[in-house]
Amino acid sequence: MDKKISIAIDGPAAAGKSTVAKIVAEQLGYIYIDTGAMYRALTLKAINNEISLEDEAALVDMLSSTTIELFPGEKGQKIFLDSVDVTEDIRRSNVTNSVSIAAKHKEVREEMVRRQQGFATGGGVVMDGRDIGTHVIPTAEVKVFLLASVEERAVRRHNENLNKGFESDLEQLKSEIAARDKLDSEREVAPLKKADDAIEIDTTSLSIEDVVGEIMGLTEDKITN
Ligand code: CDP
Ligand code: CDP
Repeated sequence: MDKKISIAIDGPAAAGKSTVAKIVAEQLGYIYIDTGAMYRALTLKAINNEISLEDEAALVDMLSSTTIELFPGEKGQKIFLDSVDVTEDIRRSNVTNSVSIAAKHKEVREEMVRRQQGFATGGGVVMDGRDIGTHVIPTAEVKVFLLASVEERAVRRHNENLNKGFESDLEQLKSEIAARDKLDSEREVAPLKKADDAIEIDTTSLSIEDVVGEIMGLTEDKITN
């Protein structure tokens, strides 16, 4: 029987991580964990409770009594915060543009990583985020770092917004993505960084199928060897 491995997919915003991670997980019958959704859920709760995202102690205290659950759904993963479905709310721009502040704190990350590692025990998992290959599952058999130009990533988010019937400003998206990349890459704790043993894939001019194909190729080598 094929062995069940762990697949870590990291990279900057809108590089295609969650799209390809979901497909790879489906094809393998693995669970998919979107770690960004966990930081987003915490950020949403802090905003709703008027807790400063700079206040590490208050965030950690709040997190200790917060449940964040991820369930597979027909249209992708469903995220529940304290038993309430927040799948849509965590994607709003007020969360997107402040989540990197909540995610910079050491003790917040330690608790999130502890929970994420709990999901990953036993393998059979595809996890995407910023620090999966470097910190959450450093032993993952397959590690991928997805990249794409800021222009291409902004266009992808812009198209998503337009398809959903939302207003969208391409230039604004470009600067928001660049600002978030900078915060995520320059923070002191577990910054966005390619693991030394991760395979880098520049997806700028690749289709989703191309990227999925590359990751499945890397995975099959590990499963059967
Ligand atoms: O989907 P998108 O790439 O826009 O972002 P996300 O994966 O939902 O992550 C939102 C934010 O959470 C990131 O910009 C990071 O600040 C933080 N994050 C993190 O610090 N570590 C992770 N493993 C995942 C997300
Ligand atoms: O999870 P992350 O923020 O890295 O990206 P995503 O939410 O998967 O969004 C990427 C967007 O770009 C989606 O609308 C995809 O359909 C599209 N896309 C992609 O993911 N990969 C490509 N190679 C080309 C387009």
